[in-house]
Amino acid sequence: MKATYVLLCVGLVVLPATICQSPAERDSYTECTDGYEWDVQTQLCRDINECETIQQACQGEMKCFNHYGGYLCLPRSASVITAPEPSSQSEPSVPVESNEAFNPCPVGYRAQGESCVDIDECELDLHDCQPSQECINTVGTYTCQCPDGYSKIGIECVDIDECRYRYCQHRCVNVPGSFSCECEPGFQLAGNNRSCVDVNECEMGAPCQQRCYNSYGTFLCRCDQGYDLGPDGFSCNDIDECSYSSFLCQFQCVNEPGRFSCVCPEGYELVGTRLCQDVNECETGTHQCGEGQVCVNIHGGHQCVNSNRCQDPYVQVSENRCICPVVKSECRDLPFSIVHRYMSITSERSVPSDIFQIQATSVYPGAYNSFRIRSGDDNDDFYIRQINNISAMLVLAKAVTGPKEYVIDLEMVSVSPLVNYQTSSVLRLSVYVGPHAF
Ligand SMILES: *[C@@H]1O[C@H](CO)[C@@H](O)[C@H](O)[C@H]1NC(C)=O
Ligand SMILES: *[C@@H]1O[C@H](CO)[C@@H](O)[C@H](O)[C@H]1NC(C)=O
Repeated sequence: MKATYVLLCVGLVVLPATICQSPAERDSYTECTDGYEWDVQTQLCRDINECETIQQACQGEMKCFNHYGGYLCLPRSASVITAPEPSSQSEPSVPVESNEAFNPCPVGYRAQGESCVDIDECELDLHDCQPSQECINTVGTYTCQCPDGYSKIGIECVDIDECRYRYCQHRCVNVPGSFSCECEPGFQLAGNNRSCVDVNECEMGAPCQQRCYNSYGTFLCRCDQGYDLGPDGFSCNDIDECSYSSFLCQFQCVNEPGRFSCVCPEGYELVGTRLCQDVNECETGTHQCGEGQVCVNIHGGHQCVNSNRCQDPYVQVSENRCICPVVKSECRDLPFSIVHRYMSITSERSVPSDIFQIQATSVYPGAYNSFRIRSGDDNDDFYIRQINNISAMLVLAKAVTGPKEYVIDLEMVSVSPLVNYQTSSVLRLSVYVGPHAF
């Protein structure tokens, strides 16, 4: 907006009335009022052009306009229509009422009635503030104020680098007119927008698969027992405990998520966590033996043997004893009695291994008993070690792996020198070798 000031001052001397002396009184002292000077030639008081005589009559952006008896400072943008100069001041100076358009007030003021009031340069757009600056009217003048975050250098507004003042705990980011604080990863801005506080990532959905532990600025993932932390630091991978050691289980290790367990082969049950123990099917009643059969528990299973095991010419005299009656002629060259015994051993025993001791109960004092293996499927696998006159040990000579069954006739020959009597009896031993070493 352009303000137009129209100065209608035609032939009017507004303020100082010019007092001029008559030219006749030459030697008299002549003085003009302020703003005028005595022109000797014309013998008149003449207006002083202050715009030319006063250096920097107007400050800043203001332009000087000479005026009768004084001058005006107006914004450059103001257009001024000047009236013609009065031809002479010698004309009778008739006091005339002041014209409103003429401003007799100091710069920054305007006349209102008889007094001067402040001009609101901001309101009237008579300022030269930059668009970014705020015009603030003051008494007699105005100032241009920079927005927050800017400081005024000359007439320019320059951004203040707040980051130089260490406002932020971690990182400061200066932006035009302001600044913001940022925090390192793992922290977040506190309520004061300057400090950084630890983020509890565990409560913010940290990607730990199992356990999460918050720590200052970060977090840690941990795994439950039986799991290993993956290379990514988040995932938990099951540990295959079975692959670490073959001694974890007596028979077989089964890996499970986070743990392992031991299993036992059929016919065995787990005792504790790793050991297998044979199930005695004959006692638990799970055997399949029928009428007329005897259940014999062996490693990993059971056997059903006929209770009537005596073969002609032997006759049964008790559950496991057969005798050959002397009245039968065939019995003369046969052992008098056959006693059935059953035993079970595990596979892969260290050898030689004592497995069965046989003991004679001789009715004749001083009798001498000799022992031998009378028959057997694999005679090489066993031998007899005589202990004394009445007992001997059956020794396993070779490592055997089951399942396997031996039937060994251990013959005991008793000789009584006193009565010149010799008798022979057989212990028919069934040796079952289980399928496992336990
Ligand atoms: C922090 O910044 C937010 C968003 O900019 C604002 O709403 C809040 O008032 C600020 N708090 C303080 C204390 O400055
Ligand atoms: C064993 O037999 C021998 C000879 O037959 C005899 O001399 C010895 O006394 C017997 N020993 C025992 C402990 O019976």
